[in-house]
Amino acid sequence: MNVLYIGAGFVGVCSAAVAADGGHTALVFDIDEKKVHAFGSGDKNTIDSCLYEKGLSDLLTTHADRIRFTTAYKEVDAFLDTCDLIFICLPTPEVAETGESNLSYYYAGLEKIAASLMLRNDGRQTQYIAIVNKSTVPINMADETQRVLESHGVRNVGVVSNPEFLVEGKAIEGSLHPDRIVIGAWTEKDFSVLRRFYERFVDVPDTQYIEVNPKEAAAGKLLANYYLFAKLAVCFDVIGRTAESFADVQFESLKKIVSSDARIGSWGFHDSLYAGGSCLIKDTRSLAYQLHEVGQDVSLLQETYDANNRQLDLFLARATTEAGVVWKEKKIALLGTAFKRDTNDVRNSPSFHIVEVCQEQQVSQIVIYDPSAMSTFQQHVPSSELIQYVDSAEMAVNQADIIIIATDWPSFKNVSTIVLQQEKKPLIMDGRRLLQEGYSALRQHGCDIIAVGSPFLPKQV
Ligand SMILES: NC(=O)c1ccc[n+]([C@@H]2O[C@H](COP(=O)([O-])OP(=O)(O)OC[C@H]3O[C@@H](n4cnc5c(N)ncnc54)[C@H](O)[C@@H]3O)[C@@H](O)[C@H]2O)c1
Repeated sequence: MNVLYIGAGFVGVCSAAVAADGGHTALVFDIDEKKVHAFGSGDKNTIDSCLYEKGLSDLLTTHADRIRFTTAYKEVDAFLDTCDLIFICLPTPEVAETGESNLSYYYAGLEKIAASLMLRNDGRQTQYIAIVNKSTVPINMADETQRVLESHGVRNVGVVSNPEFLVEGKAIEGSLHPDRIVIGAWTEKDFSVLRRFYERFVDVPDTQYIEVNPKEAAAGKLLANYYLFAKLAVCFDVIGRTAESFADVQFESLKKIVSSDARIGSWGFHDSLYAGGSCLIKDTRSLAYQLHEVGQDVSLLQETYDANNRQLDLFLARATTEAGVVWKEKKIALLGTAFKRDTNDVRNSPSFHIVEVCQEQQVSQIVIYDPSAMSTFQQHVPSSELIQYVDSAEMAVNQADIIIIATDWPSFKNVSTIVLQQEKKPLIMDGRRLLQEGYSALRQHGCDIIAVGSPFLPKQV
């Protein structure tokens, strides 16, 4: 099938790559010249440095003959004559801290498409097109989309909701072997177009192919993300705090006991200083906003959001309350700027707040390293006299007074070995419980350790 993607972000480019892998022909339109150039470059390094997702550059280069990127709208106009589906993959960020979705990108993209579709009314509209929303949007958005299209007089189209459930860091693998595909449509015609598009995932054992109406699809997406966010908040704020408060109570033992109940399941049982990323927070806030707008009590949603937020400050405060450290004039090594491993996405990364706190506390230097997300972070936090970016964890840690681990990159496990080889005995703040295997040796070496999910671990010399 011929498929148009509007937006080449995480969702657009990964979905288009997987569609091309499934034999479809994709045109991907974005207004960002750099992205379009990088994704269409045919060069794996250029693609990876623009957006790192394991397997993405392989698919884009292998299927280069079936996938094209453009910023030229006239290519979109021409493509519409033979197009079967249009996937809208535009950003829907939160408006300030209100929970409301900023739909300006969505409307801008939709208005433009509607105007182009109108051109087909002039005798060129023999081809039926399903307009499929992949952006995460308010529950009533399919109605709104229909209204915009009708207000332009667009004919011979259907409006479908197909929420995206990709997990950053595993987007390609997850889309090639999805747990579920959710299609929200009002008509059998639209369901059948989408069944053709997703043919390889319909009636297969490991994928649930779920057909509902567009509102249920949009609501289900928001609820799924809230549920995941709530699981993390419980793990950080209740299970983590229990393990921090009682001697001889190991986080990992609690995890084993609690998660072995099949009703509870194992996802989300890791402790962390914060749950960041572009989706869980935003979607929880959006759900709260929409429920509040219709008069519902949203205190549980609000408390989940607050519980996540307070983790970061609680973690950083332990340096003073437990290790007695004064931050002023200290040299900080900040390891990790991606919000989690295997991505270069820095949206809602805990490292933004850590840098702010370090500045407020008048530290002497912040030396930052991340294996993949340094340049994206640097666009928001430029290097300066205070802030320095280096090329390895070893360089960051050198002569640091405090080491903060903010991202769970497996390579950071090596930090124990690096510290054990140096004279300096820094305070280690492990925001991901990554160095666990080295805690004992580090304490004997003379390091105090603050780890999420553990009581204060003082030096043992
Ligand atoms: N990133 C995720 O893990 C994820 C997962 C599921 C759902 N979602 C949802 O999918 C949507 C997109 O998310 P994303 O992470 O891909 O966003 P993104 O910011 O990575 O990408 C959005 C892209 O849209 C482009 N764009 C903006 N305005 C445009 C316009 N008028 N025409 C064409 N292109 C335009 C931007 O240049 C950008 O490349 C959001 O609603 C998000 O909530 C994201």
